Amino acid sequence: MDFNEKYNLYVNEFNRTLEKFCNGIDCRPKILADSLKYSLNIGGKRIRPVLMLAVGDLLGLERRKLENFALSIELIHTYSLIHDDLPEMDNDDFRRGKPSNHKVFGTGNAVLAGDGLLNTAYSLLLKECKNGIEYISAAEYICDSAGICGMIAGQSADLMHEKDSSYNEATLDFIYENKTGKLITAPVVVPGILLGGRCFSELKAFGRDLGLLFQITDDILDVEGDFETLGKSIGKDDKDGKYTSVSVYGLDGAKLRADVLAERCRTLLEGIEGDRDFLVRLVDYVRTRKG
Ligand code: IPE
Ligand code: IPE
Ligand code: MG
Ligand code: MG
Ligand code: MG
Repeated sequence: MDFNEKYNLYVNEFNRTLEKFCNGIDCRPKILADSLKYSLNIGGKRIRPVLMLAVGDLLGLERRKLENFALSIELIHTYSLIHDDLPEMDNDDFRRGKPSNHKVFGTGNAVLAGDGLLNTAYSLLLKECKNGIEYISAAEYICDSAGICGMIAGQSADLMHEKDSSYNEATLDFIYENKTGKLITAPVVVPGILLGGRCFSELKAFGRDLGLLFQITDDILDVEGDFETLGKSIGKDDKDGKYTSVSVYGLDGAKLRADVLAERCRTLLEGIEGDRDFLVRLVDYVRTRKG
């Protein structure tokens, strides 16, 4: 099976779980349910759930054990996008090829949709905690990755360093590792945690570098991508004076750094036993993606 076919199989499997979840959303007023479902269902690459399912397969973990963890990661990620697009943050009018949540439902409802997704993710994680100590550790890992020493810290630093021209690699690494890296690392390590910490340090190192690579290609696409394929506005980072790999290293420097990270990811995968083929190809996909 080629890479795209397998990727789509994982996406379809995850989307079935998501559909079941969305059908079960039963909250009032209707605008709340509509706004949650809108952002979850307008698209997205689903790379975090795909990563989790693929690492689960690599380690031989039963698929059903990952369902709620994969769901919670995509809910948290989608909430982070809704809030990231708000006028007081990146002020982006488009997401996943459609108007951003706040453009459709208004800013107040978009804040609440994000809050709602986060709360629901925690509720799914808490349910899993009943299954045993490994499940508690996995849930804790996801919470920490999303929290004030994780994605939120990165987003806070991203805002703080807008229009900052004092280029510093450590600052950039801090922003990237947290705003993007932590929510890419979490789905990579969760299957290992559920298997009692199997390959934890190898998976963590791989997830970190893949997360950095993912954000660098996001920055490159903000310069070179096109709206139709990417589904979001182009050229915003430069316009807003964002602290990015392109502003720090230049476009060619960012590409060079992406190549180094991709090679590091491939090397790190060699340290993990099993059929790594899909994940090796996924590294290439992240490096060369257009959307
Ligand atoms: C966008 O994430 C935000 C970043 C961390 C760069 P994705 O590129 O994974 O967004 P979707 O889920 O495919 O829309
Ligand atoms: C966003 O980074 C990371 C999170 C949402 C946590 P960006 O601001 O670069 O993501 P895009 O480009 O809006 O998708
Ligand atoms: Mg942002
Ligand atoms: Mg943004
Ligand atoms: Mg971006």
